[in-house]
Amino acid sequence: MVRAWYMDDSKEDQRAEHHKTPPEFIDVKDLYKITGVEYFTINPQTYTEDGELESIKRKRGYTYEDQIVCSRECLPNYEEKLRNFFTEHLHTDEEIRLCLEGSGYFDVRDKQDQWIRIEVVPGDMIIIPSGIYHRFTLDSKNFIKAKRFFIGEPVWTPHNRPADEMECRQNYLKRLDNGFEE
Ligand SMILES: [Fe+2]
Repeated sequence: MVRAWYMDDSKEDQRAEHHKTPPEFIDVKDLYKITGVEYFTINPQTYTEDGELESIKRKRGYTYEDQIVCSRECLPNYEEKLRNFFTEHLHTDEEIRLCLEGSGYFDVRDKQDQWIRIEVVPGDMIIIPSGIYHRFTLDSKNFIKAKRFFIGEPVWTPHNRPADEMECRQNYLKRLDNGFEE
């Protein structure tokens, strides 16, 4: 089950949990209202047969999928990739990840520009909306295996902050103002 919390201001060790004192957790339902990030639970043992993932893919039009393993052994240019993942950026499309093994943190900005840390563990599927500033890091276990999805031909290009003039950013800000009530 995905957990989310507001981060402290420490710049030390990006792989640590970085809770505030005392910790300030955010309910998954509120996470959508605050950021537009969506969440699904998938059974990592049965997802190939139980139809849950297929139904989400069909409803949302995800036609592309692949699998990525982030670890020192499996990811080419590991240090550079991890540095890029952790540089604050946005995308013109949704970033969709389903954690199958291991774990990691997706950090997203709230309306007041505060960092929210979202922990993903096996079975957590999160959808980071287009136009939201975010970043990713491995945690202290240094390993995640995840599926990536996309509508059509994948575009993974990160646009580093500042990217405030981009249309996807402007659209995101409008949705944020409406509290993500489509
Ligand atoms: Fe990203």
